[in-house]
Amino acid sequence: MLHTTTRVILTRRPTDTATPDCFEVVTEPLAPLESGHVRVDVEFISVDAGTRTMLRGEGFHQQVGIGETIRASGVGRVIESAAEGWEVGQAVRGGLGAQTIATVDPSTLQHVDDTGGSLSRYLGALGGSTGVTAWVGVREIGTPQPGETFVVSAAAGAVGSIAGQIAKIDGARVIGIAGGPTKAAYLTDTLGFDAAIDYKSEDVSARLRELAPDGINVFFDNVGGDILDAVLDNLALRARVVICGAISQYDHMDAVRGPSLYLRLAERQSRMEGFAYFHFTDRIPAARADLSQWLDEGRLIMAEEILDGIERYPEALQFMYTGGNIGKLMVRATTD
Ligand SMILES: NC(=O)c1ccc[n+]([C@@H]2O[C@H](COP(=O)([O-])OP(=O)(O)OC[C@H]3O[C@@H](n4cnc5c(N)ncnc54)[C@H](OP(=O)(O)O)[C@@H]3O)[C@@H](O)[C@H]2O)c1
Repeated sequence: MLHTTTRVILTRRPTDTATPDCFEVVTEPLAPLESGHVRVDVEFISVDAGTRTMLRGEGFHQQVGIGETIRASGVGRVIESAAEGWEVGQAVRGGLGAQTIATVDPSTLQHVDDTGGSLSRYLGALGGSTGVTAWVGVREIGTPQPGETFVVSAAAGAVGSIAGQIAKIDGARVIGIAGGPTKAAYLTDTLGFDAAIDYKSEDVSARLRELAPDGINVFFDNVGGDILDAVLDNLALRARVVICGAISQYDHMDAVRGPSLYLRLAERQSRMEGFAYFHFTDRIPAARADLSQWLDEGRLIMAEEILDGIERYPEALQFMYTGGNIGKLMVRATTD
């Protein structure tokens, strides 16, 4: 039986990019398990762009208090149970937090099948804030039609890479925007996107004009800022702009830069619509069924970038915000 947990706590609110000195990794004894609770040995912890907005004092996401464990989705196995229906050894996913052993009320957890490979897939391709988010944004909002041009930003990341692949499955021509030549090559050579733009070295607006002379029908935006403006300037008539996120703005939420070219929506009779995947709870089973099937059929690729050891969580967010990851970024809580 394990007697301690190691958790990542917030010690200082970042004013810019969240750097490792905003966190501390502490090891503490575990209290006896209360009735109705379970103890989970956490295997993988999800690292999400949205975590940055939880570190602020306000905002869309509920804030993390100073000294509190960083909230995060995770997967692991039950190692102790005082709750009916939850057996030792069962694999589970849920809000386990950035810690090695989570003690939780299991009503927030879900059982998962651990016979089909690594549990990491429940945070990656099948994760709520990853594959499911991409599915909702593409299938419920963007709705690309065969032959239409679909553009996605942060295209080599977790949500973006899946969104682009779903649009390909739906018959669209897909252009991905990502930072650096390695990511651009990954999009076309590994994921089979039709074209890629390296926003760090290319003029995004000029490249979009070349690659989509008839305009863009669907834009799945994860980034905001200049990239959003560049795409707005190149919309086709009756285009759909899906606001999934705006990672370029999260470090400075008091001075978010809105799109200066939003009047293109009027000129091109287009619409812009935001969403959060948890607004679509009734669609989650359908999303997971499709994602699972595509994974099994080899039609969906989800790269996983895994940092080993809970002590590496503090560097993980900075890694993401400097564009280090290809695919889903996670921390492996246990290293043995
Ligand atoms: N609506 C929802 O329900 C929902 C749910 C989950 C996530 N999201 C959103 O989805 C987006 C992607 O999240 P994720 O967790 O999958 O992260 P991710 O795409 O795996 O990683 C973030 C990527 O964003 C890019 N990036 C970072 N800073 C940037 C900047 N200043 N300008 C341009 N690109 C930047 C980096 O790639 P490059 O190297 O290409 O720059 C980085 O790898 C985020 O906006 C997130 O908030 C929305």
